[in-house]
Amino acid sequence: MDYYIVGILLFITLFSPFTKSEPTKLDRPSNETELIHGNSKPNCKAAEPTKGKQWAVLIAGSTDYENYRHQADICHAYQILKKGGLKDENIIVFMYDDIAFNVENPRPGVIINQPGGDDVYEGVPKDYTQSAATAANVFAVLLGNKTAVQGGSGKVLDSGPDDHIFIYYADHGATGIIGMTDGLIYAKDLIDVLKKKHEAKAYKTMVIYIEACEAGSMFQGLLPNNWDIYATTAANAEENSFGTYCPDDYPSAPLEYDTCLGDTYSVAWLEDSEMHDLRSETLEKQYKRIRRRVFTQDLDFNSHVTQYGDMKLSKEFLFTYMGTNPDNDNYTSMANSKPSGFSSASQYDAELLHFWYKFHRAPEGSTRKLEAQKELHGKISHRMHVDHSMKEMGKLILGSENSTMMLLKTVRPLDQPVVDDWDCYKMLVKTYEEHCGSLLRYGLKYTRALANMCNAGITMEQMAAASARACAKIKP
Ligand SMILES: *[C@@H]1O[C@H](CO)[C@@H](O)[C@H](O)[C@H]1NC(C)=O
Ligand SMILES: *[C@@H]1O[C@H](CO)[C@@H](O)[C@H](O)[C@H]1NC(C)=O
Ligand SMILES: *[C@@H]1O[C@H](CO)[C@@H](O)[C@H](O)[C@H]1NC(C)=O
Ligand SMILES: *[C@@H]1O[C@H](CO)[C@@H](O)[C@H](O)[C@H]1NC(C)=O
Repeated sequence: MDYYIVGILLFITLFSPFTKSEPTKLDRPSNETELIHGNSKPNCKAAEPTKGKQWAVLIAGSTDYENYRHQADICHAYQILKKGGLKDENIIVFMYDDIAFNVENPRPGVIINQPGGDDVYEGVPKDYTQSAATAANVFAVLLGNKTAVQGGSGKVLDSGPDDHIFIYYADHGATGIIGMTDGLIYAKDLIDVLKKKHEAKAYKTMVIYIEACEAGSMFQGLLPNNWDIYATTAANAEENSFGTYCPDDYPSAPLEYDTCLGDTYSVAWLEDSEMHDLRSETLEKQYKRIRRRVFTQDLDFNSHVTQYGDMKLSKEFLFTYMGTNPDNDNYTSMANSKPSGFSSASQYDAELLHFWYKFHRAPEGSTRKLEAQKELHGKISHRMHVDHSMKEMGKLILGSENSTMMLLKTVRPLDQPVVDDWDCYKMLVKTYEEHCGSLLRYGLKYTRALANMCNAGITMEQMAAASARACAKIKP
């Protein structure tokens, strides 16, 4: 995992930071046989129409233009489900909705998710936007609890025992955490919600796709295999996931975009779903394809797409969750294959990337350049503050300069959750933030150190004392 020390950060930020070597090679699906698998042949086993309803909850956790890609992913997913035949009344969308009409958006009212791609914003239901796109509302919606919902359309996952549910999330994540616009969702709380849903027999089967750094930590050692839930994640429990179609990538976002248009795992499944007859395409097949695409795209910026939960569900057809677009019935290898290789930037750096390109591309002496410089400077200062305070805290608590670094490198066995005592973990994050200011998205990368402090028996009192001292001088 990349770990920025101050000097390096400044250096790489100010001097050609994200121009990552050569354009990556195209990673086309390896052979014809596989490419045309989606074609409906008489002998192919294919999905029966589903008896229950098909529900979907689509969640973009981030805000701000530098995170364009998450809302773009979510909107794109909506378009696929809609074309697949799901009903608006059964699709619930969370997104802050500050991208389409953002002053930075070169195409007002339009969001694209790939270079040359169509508008994916049109028609997307605005169920939970702005101040209603909260973590609490995500829980209320998943539980189908109308009275607990605050603001928004009031649409909830009102599902029954025959129904199928698809949940897709995109934003930043960290150790046992995914972000929402107003705070964090901890793995333990999400698992508790799923448990309640399972006990209430409020679905037949459920599929969850999560795009986030360390997304595997939401399920590792937590999601049992007998809840009829199958999940795949953009990364395993300890690595970054990546933005893609960024400026100067290959393929690159159009020149007028100084932000990444999509995320690697997300774009991989979205484009895969668009190119197949989903009646004869299984979840497993898609998992394998996106795993290969995400892993081989760029040797320096790749992650391991990972699956969790009930593996027998992976034999089911995508159709059960996404429907299928009749236009793809006759999909053949050549017809609409798009370049499937791409390079990428880590979720952490993708946000800096926006400000860097904004700065870089603005005319000399312009207000815009000045503004971008200020924004970039603000982001970098925050990073330095977090880097420094985390290092100090490790030193104060465990005695060595390298403690935080070592805690960051400590990973748990694959059958264990990243934290045992979730209350301790939440408390340490809260305590740090009270003394040192919000971690924001960048600071999330240190949460593994906090989790490991809990695993090592560090108490809230020790944490409070150390963060008070570490952050006494540097006001956030
Ligand atoms: C293509 O893939 C199929 C199925 O994975 C395999 O059986 C076949 O040998 C492959 N063909 C080539 C030319 O690699
Ligand atoms: C729904 O949420 C409300 C308010 O948070 C709570 O009082 C109630 O118990 C919840 N209902 C169910 C069925 O969980
Ligand atoms: C697919 O092929 C069948 C048989 O050739 C044809 O009847 C149908 O219209 C085609 N569908 C599309 C969407 O092109
Ligand atoms: C800390 O890390 C540096 C560089 O990796 C190493 O030289 C040093 O010995 C370490 N110090 C301790 C106390 O482990």
